[in-house]
Parts: sequence; C-alpha cells; structure tokens
Amino acid sequence: MILLENIQKSVSAGIKEEQRSILRNISFSVPHGNVTAIVGPSGSGKSTLLQIIGLLDIPTNGKLILNGIECSFKSDKIATVMRKEMIGFVYQFHYLLSGFTVLENLLIPMRIKNKNADKEIAFSTLKKFNLEQKANMVVDQLSGGEKQRVAVARGIINSPKIVIADEPTGSLDRRNADCVFEVLLEVARENDTTVIIATHDDNIAKNCDQVFMLSDGYLTKM
Ligand SMILES: Nc1ncnc2c1ncn2[C@@H]1O[C@H](COP(=O)(O)OP(=O)(O)O)[C@@H](O)[C@H]1O
Ligand SMILES: [Mg+2]
Repeated sequence: MILLENIQKSVSAGIKEEQRSILRNISFSVPHGNVTAIVGPSGSGKSTLLQIIGLLDIPTNGKLILNGIECSFKSDKIATVMRKEMIGFVYQFHYLLSGFTVLENLLIPMRIKNKNADKEIAFSTLKKFNLEQKANMVVDQLSGGEKQRVAVARGIINSPKIVIADEPTGSLDRRNADCVFEVLLEVARENDTTVIIATHDDNIAKNCDQVFMLSDGYLTKM
C-alpha cells in the first residue's frame, strides 16, 4: 500500500533564493495488489515523484506511508532498510552493472538482501521475460530492449511488496512492452504487490487499475 498526503517538492531555481515547484500537494493512494499508472509530459515530475515514493529523494513537505510505515525521510539507515526489504525500483535508464552477466545482475539484489543467491529463482524470472538464453551473456552485449527487460527482472527478483517502475517499456517494441506489463500485472495479482508505473504508453495506462496525470506539478485522476 502506498499513501501520499500533500507531497510537495521544490528545488532551487539557481537564481538567488528562488524556488521552483516540481510537485504541488500530491495526495493519492495505491492499495495492495493494484497497478497504478502516472502519465504526463516529459518534465512534468514523474521521475521525481517515483523517486520520492522509492525513498531515493526527499520531499520538501508532506507525508508518505509505505505498507503502514510512515517514512520520516530523516534517517538514511531506515530508508536503506525499507528499500532493501520492501521496494523494487526499475529506473528509467536501466543501470545494470556493466561487465557482469545477466545472471550476476539478478543475483546481486538477492545477496544485498542477505538471501542465498538462488539461480533457480533467477532463471524462472528470466523465463517470464523470454531471456533465459541470455543468462550468461555480459549485459553490455545485450540490445537496449533486452537490457531494459533484465532491469525489470532485477526489480521484481526479491518479490518486493512495492514495485516502482519509471518508464519501464520506453525502449521496447509493442510485443516486449506488453510482455513486461503482463509480468508486472501478474506480480501484482499473485503476490498482492503494489505496482506504480510512469509511462507514456496509452496501451499500458488503459489496462492499469487507476491512472493519474501529472501536469505542471499537479496530479489529477483520469
Ligand atoms: N534535483 C533537481 N534539481 C533541479 N531541477 C530538477 C531536479 N530534479 C528534477 N528537476 C526538474 O524537475 C522537472 C521534473 O523532472 P522529472 O521528474 O525528471 O520529470 P519527468 O520524469 O516527468 O520527465 C524537470 O523540469 C527537471 O528539470
Ligand atoms: Mg522521467
């Protein structure tokens, strides 16, 4: 469950003390097992919003509750533990570890979570994305679309209770975009995971449980 109350984000505009508002009084919630899309033009604040929800950025004001836990934003230690235990984040740019294989990139989050690096789980996850043949390839040798699918696989490998995906299908063709979305839906339905996706893809947005539009820092339900 994700709950935001009056989340605001302002950044320094660079001129004297002037502040620029990126997010204004954002309030909404996503129940367990629900998939929510955030749409809106480039620069409207989608990534900023997702990074705040994923505890990778700090709001200027407001309240965030993740699975019943109020996030204080004051303690890096607690944020780190919550990210590790609860959140799977798929970045807009895949951020895979260069020089490592697909399999190694998937085993790393398990090691970080102090779980046994379980190759069977890694292979069954790769299979969902039709990538099991690529397991032992160094990620640098993959196409852009393959890298992006590995990044989504890495985001769900630990079965996090919350999955946050920033334009996860931006660099994919229709078939692979649908495959990624199907997997995210399945994760939500089967594990009762809360999924939030920033997307430009109308086909994906229309199949989500709810859609919000960000524009000039304001969020409206569609
Ligand atoms: N740390 C920052 N400092 C200053 N401006 C920022 C910062 N992060 C984002 N922005 C600005 O905030 C706006 C929203 O950016 P972003 O969240 O990346 O939007 P989107 O993901 O919808 O394209 C942009 O105008 C961007 O330049
Ligand atoms: Mg973005």
